[in-house]
Amino acid sequence: MVAPMDEMTDIATMSPDTAPEAPKRPAHNLPTETVTQVRHYTDRLFSFRTTRPRSLRFRSGEFVMIGLVGDNGRPILRAYSIASPAWDEELEFYSIKVQDGPLTSKLQHIQPGDEIILKPKPVGTLVHDALLPGKRLWFFATGTGFAPYASLLREPQTWEDYDEVIITHTCRDVAELTYGRELVEALPDDPLIGEMVAGKLRYYPTTTREESPKMGRITTLIESGELFADLGIPPLDPKSDRAMVCGSLAFNLDMKAILEGAGLREGANSEPAEFVIEKAFVG
Ligand code: A2P
Repeated sequence: MVAPMDEMTDIATMSPDTAPEAPKRPAHNLPTETVTQVRHYTDRLFSFRTTRPRSLRFRSGEFVMIGLVGDNGRPILRAYSIASPAWDEELEFYSIKVQDGPLTSKLQHIQPGDEIILKPKPVGTLVHDALLPGKRLWFFATGTGFAPYASLLREPQTWEDYDEVIITHTCRDVAELTYGRELVEALPDDPLIGEMVAGKLRYYPTTTREESPKMGRITTLIESGELFADLGIPPLDPKSDRAMVCGSLAFNLDMKAILEGAGLREGANSEPAEFVIEKAFVG
């Protein structure tokens, strides 16, 4: 659905006394969608849902450009992973709030009924097509890097293609795990994929700055072997293991080195291999 940008009230016909303040004519002609739901998890994290353009087809794990109009009237657009699965009739996004961030300082205040800019051109490498067939699929996330997995975990192909799916999520504190934990806990009851998930899903949340049952950066837990000992599975092996990585730039680089050290090669849509990487948007 494209917002009726061209149907704004023509106040030129009203008398100057009664005319309301002129609505600012948007300085863009970009498509918009309507916010349907907003949920705040912490002072740094929130999720929201929007209407979905009829024409939008995407592969679970891809991202689109979304945004708002800035104070200067120009659109501020950023890449956001779609957190909802490809079959969902709405779109879901999971976002950081950065108080001086150009986009998220504003985006964090959206309410149901508001419009956001959404360019319906999905792209991305965290897709099944970019991985060769394997036995075990790892989803490695820090912070809002969980978003593409929120989509992929609800995608039937994830469960059809692999014997085992392991999602690791590292956050600063326990409250920051909430969005991911609730989603993972709801999977067995999901009408579409609930039965497929049974016996295949492993969830491995860790925190780095608040006490929790499992503490530490996932990179450290991989290098020490603690992750594999905890899960009772062998270390990463290019024959059986496939991985997707989504987090900060530093995290992605560290994970890339670890995965390549284990003999996995980075894949792309054009050349599938054993792992793929994408940076989670910040700001
Ligand atoms: P830490 O608290 O040790 O920095 P953020 O909220 O800053 O995006 O970080 C999310 C999580 O990712 C934090 O738990 C943080 O740990 C962790 N993290 C940040 N950088 C790396 C990295 N290079 N390797 C592994 N984990 C990281």
